[in-house]
Amino acid sequence: MTATIVPPTPDILARAADILRIGGLVAMPTETVYGLACDAANPDAVAGLYEAKGRPRFNPLIAHVASQAMAEREAVFTPLAAKAAECFWPGPLTIVLPVARTASVCDLARAGLDTVALRRPVHPVAQALLDAFGGPLVAPSANKSGHVSPTTPEHVRTDLADRIALILDGGPCAIGIESTILDFTGNTPVLLRAGALGTAELEDCLGVVLARPSDSAGITAPGQMKSHYAPRAALRLNAATPMSGEGYLGFGDHCPREGNLSPKGDLAEAAANLFAILRALDARYERIAVAPIPQTGLGEAINDRLERAAHRD
Ligand code: TXA
Ligand code: MG
Repeated sequence: MTATIVPPTPDILARAADILRIGGLVAMPTETVYGLACDAANPDAVAGLYEAKGRPRFNPLIAHVASQAMAEREAVFTPLAAKAAECFWPGPLTIVLPVARTASVCDLARAGLDTVALRRPVHPVAQALLDAFGGPLVAPSANKSGHVSPTTPEHVRTDLADRIALILDGGPCAIGIESTILDFTGNTPVLLRAGALGTAELEDCLGVVLARPSDSAGITAPGQMKSHYAPRAALRLNAATPMSGEGYLGFGDHCPREGNLSPKGDLAEAAANLFAILRALDARYERIAVAPIPQTGLGEAINDRLERAAHRD
């Protein structure tokens, strides 16, 4: 099998939905990163997806839904979770809730947990595919497990070409960093993964201060392994300047333009460029120095990804 990158015309979307119905895999663009989609209700399809990514089966998947009605068949919403959905869906927020009795997402996709992670993406191609398919689609980032997430169709092809038939072309992802994950199964929502939606915005909408996993004994963020998002090259963080032989991932106008996440110091632009520039530097250098990135707004998610990328077991 060799993946082709195809424009998401109505005919192709219908074909993609047919592939999903028979348990196949399709790569789709979302506003955050490209996802590798399959039928969330089909355990054989989900087993094939874990296989294709080389993903450990204890790491559960996000189920993507087409509507609030579909979400409410899958999970039991608390009032606060409903508020979050109202504020930020469709968009880059993933909500973890107790699984509903009417749910169709299979056990394997949830890694056996009695909770489910749901996201309603805003990207028109993801929405069109969900509508054409008519049920929840699990879609982890469309990279080999542990690699840098894909933000272009070419990134997907580099990682998974021999594993999938279709890559729907949505061009580069507008946000470029994964969704923020909030767990609503306890009394206070817990930020399981910093991401595309900033903490301040979330706290404004919900009127509460988010808890961190470390604050709440017993709450774990499966799959939040330290060495996630690993490039080949070794990363040196908070480097004001590169040393000889190092590539430089810059930020701001005092850094060289080459490898610069955002010469004008804009965090949204930096997030959108992060994985593509990291991949490009990784292909050229054994060692990469990384400029300091402010920890405000999207900077929290960018620094989270960089720390994981820098971690060596
Ligand atoms: O932006 C995104 O969220 C992208 C796009 C494609 O939608 N998807 C994505 O999926 O990043 P993935 O599989 O790479 O990350 C899913 C995360 C994992 O860290 C997993 O542990 C967490 O969601 N997760 C899934 N189900 C969970 C659950 N029931 N409880 C806690 N965490 C869960
Ligand atoms: Mg991922």
